[in-house]
Amino acid sequence: HKGGYDHFMIKEIHEQPRIIRESNSTSIHSGVKDAELSGILSLDPPPSILILACGTSYHAGLIAKYLVEELLGLSVNVELASEFNYHRHRTPEALAIVITQSGETADALLAMRRLREHGTKLLAITNVPGCTASRLADETWYTGAGPEISVAATKSFTAQLKVIYRLLLSCSRLERRDFDRLTLALRLLPSAIQGVLDNQLEIRSCAKYLASCSGVIFIGRGLNYPIALEGALKLKEVAYIPSQGYAAGELKHGPLALVSKTTPVVAVLGRDTTHDAMLTTLREIKVRGAPLIAIAPKGDDGLDGLADYIIPRPEVDNLVSPMLNAVVLQLLAYYTALELGCPIDMPRNLAKSVTVE
Ligand code: F6R
Repeated sequence: HKGGYDHFMIKEIHEQPRIIRESNSTSIHSGVKDAELSGILSLDPPPSILILACGTSYHAGLIAKYLVEELLGLSVNVELASEFNYHRHRTPEALAIVITQSGETADALLAMRRLREHGTKLLAITNVPGCTASRLADETWYTGAGPEISVAATKSFTAQLKVIYRLLLSCSRLERRDFDRLTLALRLLPSAIQGVLDNQLEIRSCAKYLASCSGVIFIGRGLNYPIALEGALKLKEVAYIPSQGYAAGELKHGPLALVSKTTPVVAVLGRDTTHDAMLTTLREIKVRGAPLIAIAPKGDDGLDGLADYIIPRPEVDNLVSPMLNAVVLQLLAYYTALELGCPIDMPRNLAKSVTVE
């Protein structure tokens, strides 16, 4: 049932174009507004929104915050469920979106029970039909990625993002222009992801190099900052290499001290307003002699002579670039772990769903 692949992780990585394409044809093309509770997002005055999640799902939450604030003009708080449970919640939000692949993560469920007591409406985004989170929620949006066997979340993450985009599209607050832009971007995305999957040469040679490193730093800005966090999580999880993700602008506030000739930096770039600031940060890193790996849209001239490895990826609308960049980083982690002979689908000390606090 690994479908000819060596591991579930790589099989699940390859399922992503299909999963994204299928959801495009059902919900987005028909323009169905399948949200009821999410109609809260359209209320006037704007509702207060909280997003809760753990691990990889939390990274999807960070991207959701950025998108909701940018495209809907609403402000959003995102918290790790495990932290949320340990402080007083003074002004309960009208709506909480809980993102959990398994729907059984103890910290997320506890947070849901607390919020229910405060009368907050709960929207769950989950991959498992009938899970506990869906039973606690007022409304559930399924990610439809199918069972994810590999402990490291891959296809469930991009499927979560896809649901978040659908949520935005269902909201009457979204301007027509952005609706059209996002719809088109999502329609073009599956073949761009396929393009990454069909072109793994640079990723594999870069993975060979990373396998020799004892620490890696990931950086991104804006929409791709959470992707830097996700890339670092994937690498430490499956390849056991200490990896840290940072907002690029934060490097100079401390982490730059870690940068040296033996600490490579993986930079996740988009073609957006953060691009020039990213290049400035890359130059600062270069001066310190650190090997630079850049993941960027094809034909980014700014990187010539700057990056040691360039992993070019297909051009997509920057709004959906996190999904594409995530796939690149999943592959990078996978091949690095493969190089090191790690038990990729079942990393030590980890369980697929964390049902204890
Ligand atoms: C990382 C990973 C974990 C989960 C986290 C939350 O690859 O799989 O970080 O994302 O345990 O799990 P769910 O989404 O099931 O609540």
